[in-house]
Parts: sequence; structure tokens; C-alpha cells
Amino acid sequence: MISSKLEEAINDQINFEFYSSYVYLAMSAWFKDQNFNGFAHWMEIQAREELFHAMKLFHFVFDRGGKVVLTAVKAPAGEWKTPQEAFRQAFEHEQTVTSRISDLMDLALTERDHVAATLLQWFINEQIEEESSVKSIVDQLRMMGASQDSVFMLDRELNVRQLGAQASAYLNDQPLTTA
Ligand code: FEO
Repeated sequence: MISSKLEEAINDQINFEFYSSYVYLAMSAWFKDQNFNGFAHWMEIQAREELFHAMKLFHFVFDRGGKVVLTAVKAPAGEWKTPQEAFRQAFEHEQTVTSRISDLMDLALTERDHVAATLLQWFINEQIEEESSVKSIVDQLRMMGASQDSVFMLDRELNVRQLGAQASAYLNDQPLTTA
């Protein structure tokens, strides 16, 4: 049985994962509007990964005898000056997620909930990949500077990103949009 403190904190993280999905979907919409279809695709895949994270926590709360309480999802930003700014914010967002997951792990250990700690270890490992993949894009964009040709080349490269195997299996790889 999950403790009420941990139940509340994980419910809060469910909301934050849905918010994360919203943040990336907003970035995807902005990139589409700017005709950066590869960046838009990358962000849409990221939005779907976040839905998977939210649902993983959602099912965990039920499996441990808790109650899921869904609350309002904050509106994300909708405008960025450059692709680099959007990806830099995405990186900062992932750093916030890592910090939140670390706090959840501290709480799980304080509550001696080793089942929750095992789940949270999965999220901690996931964050290594989440931070590193966005950071590499931020670094590439920084090196490209004002070279529009290079930025459009990276945009094309990112158009091939696929949903991770676990998220894909969970979401049944059904497209969430009618492309
Ligand atoms: Fe759910 Fe991008 O962390």
C-alpha cells in the first residue's frame, strides 16, 4: 500500500508529465508553424513519450492501492525566438524533471517504499537519456550559429525519430494525430 504522502507526490508528478507532454506539443505546433517539420516531429514524439511516463505512474498508483487524482494542466508557452531557444528550454525542462524525480526517490526511501523506489529508478535511468538527447541537439544548434542551411539539415535528420520501444508498446504505436 502506498503512503498518502507518496500518493500525493506521485499524483503531482502525473500532472507534471502531462504538462511535459503539453510543453512539447506546444513546441511541435510552433515548429510546424515555422516549417521546421523535422523538429516538429521530434517534439511530437517527445510529447508521446511523456504521455507514456504519465500513464506508467498512473497505473503504479492503482497497482499500489492508491487513488489517482487528476488536476488541471497548466498552459505551456507557445512562442520561441529560435529553434535553439526552444530546445534549450526543453533541456531546462528535463533538468527540472530529473530534480523532481530525485525528490520523489528521496521521499520513497524515507517512506521505506522500495517498490516505489524500483519504479523511480526506471525514471532516473530514463532521465539520463532524456537530458542527453536534448542536450546534444542544443549543442549542435549552438555550433551551427547563424547557418540556416545547417539548421535545416538538422531539421531533416530529426524527422526520423521513432517512439521508444516501451512507449510504443504501451501506446500500441497508434498515431495520435492524423498525419
Ligand atoms: Fe517524463 Fe521528459 O521526462
